[in-house]
Amino acid sequence: MTKKIAVLAGDGIGPEITAQAVRVLDVLVRDGLEVQTESALVGGAAFDAKGDPLPDETLKVCESAQAILFGAVGGPAYDALPRSSRPEQGLLRLRKHFDLFANLRPALVYPELAEASPLKPDLVAGLDLLILRELTGDIYFGKPRGIHVNDAGEREGFDTMRYSESEIRRIARWAFEAARKRNRRVCSVDKANVLETTQLWRDVVTEVARDYPDVELSHMYVDNAAMQLIRRPLQFDVIVTGNMFGDILSDAASMLTGSIGMLPSASLNASGFGMYEPIHGSAPDIAGTNRANPLATILSLAMLLRYSLDQEAAAVRVEQAVRKVLAAGARTADIARPGEKVLGCSEMGDAVVAAL
Ligand code: NAI
Ligand code: MG
Repeated sequence: MTKKIAVLAGDGIGPEITAQAVRVLDVLVRDGLEVQTESALVGGAAFDAKGDPLPDETLKVCESAQAILFGAVGGPAYDALPRSSRPEQGLLRLRKHFDLFANLRPALVYPELAEASPLKPDLVAGLDLLILRELTGDIYFGKPRGIHVNDAGEREGFDTMRYSESEIRRIARWAFEAARKRNRRVCSVDKANVLETTQLWRDVVTEVARDYPDVELSHMYVDNAAMQLIRRPLQFDVIVTGNMFGDILSDAASMLTGSIGMLPSASLNASGFGMYEPIHGSAPDIAGTNRANPLATILSLAMLLRYSLDQEAAAVRVEQAVRKVLAAGARTADIARPGEKVLGCSEMGDAVVAAL
């Protein structure tokens, strides 16, 4: 059966970067990969056309597919909308609908691009870390939440950090399983000294670790983890953490590699269905100018091939093509040094297609 990928380009640079990933996929299809794509609207683009950031048609397209390739959503044009109509809702609802609880964010420093890191080369050379962020719980979804007027008559905002044991256990298992295929070290990040929810987090992760005696578990408070990521990033193999801490730490980790435009991500559920997207947003400041780096999206496609389509060889082929163009000096503006020749988004796509 030919497998299907739902392509949701979204807003801003979304259409520019996903177009390059689809070109890469076309090469693989030409060479025999049995995959078809179907595009659908999401985010602001869907709100403009249908009045809803995640229309039913889009959800149907995703449900009939094995995986979603997602660009980015959002932009200043939508900032004044009520929260339920905001483009980001398209993303959050997809994550919830498909129960995409495991968010994988690898941060790799390619030897071909070591100079792009703002840290000294010896601090990041060989960096290969995986941040595993829980994606469907925590303070982003916990209730109650709101803004009300308190007893003192002033406005007060509140959110609820919340994790159940089973939610913690399944992401912890993912972390230990992933570590087994890597360097067998898991660092669980929490704030157990202050927050009850994360004390439970620490307890449950420790329980799960008993099933993985071959994997070394350490715990770190999130503030220290933020510092350690910059001070000595090579100490980490797999970092597992909750939704909010993972959001922040993974953006920090992205800069270790030089550019947010290089980092792919996968969001998976228990049955292997996944959504794959670059970790950056819609970059409204450069949208429509052919200046975006499409490599994060192309590398997200590689993760899609690996995790949802079980096409490891094709995934490796795409990753090697990316490394080849980097080694040959191909640079978009975000990863170029002053004076270096700069490629546009579509020219970087050309280079990867040629390398394939
Ligand atoms: P952003 O990631 O869109 O941009 C941050 C900076 O990085 C900008 O200077 C941008 O030009 C640059 N950048 C991002 N991706 C790039 C790429 N591929 N190549 C070269 N440079 C790149 O984050 P920002 O500015 O905070 O948010 C812009 C919009 O994106 C907002 O509406 C936000 O809500 C939305 N957003 C959407 C996300 C998603 O769809 N998953 C994630 C994060 C933000
Ligand atoms: Mg973020």
